[in-house]
Amino acid sequence: MTAAIEFQGVEKRYGTTLALENITLEVPKGELVVLIGPSGCGKSTLLRLVNRMIEPSGGKLLVEGQNVLEADAVRLRRSIGYVIQSIGLFPHMTIFENVEVVPSLLNWDKLKKRSRAAELLNMVGLEPEKFGSRYPKQLSGGQQQRVGIARALAADPQILLMDEPFGAVDPITRERLQEEFLRIQREIQKTILFVTHDIDEAVKLADRICLMRDGKVEQYATPENLLAYPSSDFVRDFVGADRELKRLGRVSVASLMRPVAKVDIRFQTSETASVLGTLSARDALSRLLEAGGELLVLDAQGGIIGTISLNDLTVANMDYRQRKP
Ligand SMILES: Nc1ncnc2c1ncn2[C@@H]1O[C@H](COP(=O)(O)OP(=O)(O)OP(=O)(O)O)[C@@H](O)[C@H]1O
Ligand SMILES: [Mg+2]
Repeated sequence: MTAAIEFQGVEKRYGTTLALENITLEVPKGELVVLIGPSGCGKSTLLRLVNRMIEPSGGKLLVEGQNVLEADAVRLRRSIGYVIQSIGLFPHMTIFENVEVVPSLLNWDKLKKRSRAAELLNMVGLEPEKFGSRYPKQLSGGQQQRVGIARALAADPQILLMDEPFGAVDPITRERLQEEFLRIQREIQKTILFVTHDIDEAVKLADRICLMRDGKVEQYATPENLLAYPSSDFVRDFVGADRELKRLGRVSVASLMRPVAKVDIRFQTSETASVLGTLSARDALSRLLEAGGELLVLDAQGGIIGTISLNDLTVANMDYRQRKP
């Protein structure tokens, strides 16, 4: 894998506090890596090293192959998108102007800036005609958060740093922002370092999760593997007692179903409930708890591709289907 960001034995001291200790970590290009762990474990510190808001006290940090200490700090910062919980929109600037902050610093011409801002506002679900000329305080918290994301993407950075970007919004808005954000990321495929406190958010969004503890990496793994093979009691406790349910949230019905080669005559006459193969196994479980028995699994064209029952949703079946320690 090509690493967009590479920590090699990185250390960060604040006076006598060792905030980060011997961090070795590779963030692959185009992946979304979530940093998670108890308060004070060093998540924000790790993030802020990447665009050189702070500098390492030891070890080496490479961004796109270049040692950050040898990069031009201003140029580096402008080339990396940054989103924080408090959003940090400029209150005296319109939404358009907020999104255009970095392009303005880069001297883009007016027309190019505005069309880019409009494109991004559309992408995050805010109509530019309606919202572009408003001021931040005339938007809800969730809408401001979207503007924050649009602003971070304005100059088309290859890397995005996001520090609890959805931390300040209500649970429903948060879920909607997560869905939209995932949809956008599938399109733009940026390298993203994303900090959260919320293990469900981590499991939902991450390609990989880096679980930290006291300035060190406790486990770095895909969500599937973190849930299936916690490396210590600390990880096990952190992911929670319902880790099997969380695992179901990461796999599709199609990956656990019993495929059917051709449609069984039984199903043409019965009124068996059905689910799409792309649905998460966790959602299928909810449906099974309602419907009982088994469900037909359909492809996008409505063709029957398999069946799924409670027996297919067991840990043993998940382990069997996705054996990759
Ligand atoms: N500027 C600073 N000066 C001194 N100590 C600091 C400074 N910034 C952070 N620290 C310390 O470094 C450690 C890691 O802080 P950091 O902000 O990275 O934690 P975090 O994991 O982001 O926590 P949270 O989840 O609460 O945001 C903490 O012990 C913190 O007190
Ligand atoms: Mg923090």
